[in-house]
Amino acid sequence: MNGDLESIVLTEEQIGQKVKEAAAWLDARFNGEYPLAISVLKGSVMFFCDLVRAMKTPVQIDFMTVSSYGSGSKTTGVPKIVMDLAASVEGRDVILVEDIVDSGNTLVRMRDLILGRGAKSFTVVALMDKPSRRVVDVKADYACYEIGDEFIVGYGLDYAQKYRTLPYIGILKREIYE
Ligand code: IMP
Ligand code: MG
Repeated sequence: MNGDLESIVLTEEQIGQKVKEAAAWLDARFNGEYPLAISVLKGSVMFFCDLVRAMKTPVQIDFMTVSSYGSGSKTTGVPKIVMDLAASVEGRDVILVEDIVDSGNTLVRMRDLILGRGAKSFTVVALMDKPSRRVVDVKADYACYEIGDEFIVGYGLDYAQKYRTLPYIGILKREIYE
């Protein structure tokens, strides 16, 4: 385990199992369709790549970069679109793949944007969910794992751009970010 972590939340094997279950849920929902799967960069990229490959349903993939943090561990509240989608979402079944739903601000921003552009449906799959931190009333349609008010890193999740490439997810020691 990386020395900056306090404990492991999900091992590589446990993540693999969660990914399979999420893929099966999506396959059941989108059987016979051709949805547009969107990765919210950068945090969801590892999860996204594993998820779309675990699905039997073919999907179109696209990417969007949204930034809600400076370099700290507290959200600034106003998510900014740093890089927009290449594809049109009009008339499409959109699957939004998020790393973690925290305050919910990013999700609301993405939902309003994508539905505002005329998507036919909007489904959110999140790797992690922190329901106790929610400030806006929004929910992922599918969340792989719920966690309390802890700051976690690894498997795409960062603190000041670090730890994203760890293959597992762990709780960051408070002394690192306080
Ligand atoms: P929200 O807009 O507050 O729901 O959170 C948006 C983003 O904050 C997430 O997509 C993550 O990129 C980031 N975030 C929230 N909690 C954590 C965490 O515990 N570790 C790493 N990133 C986090
Ligand atoms: Mg994110």
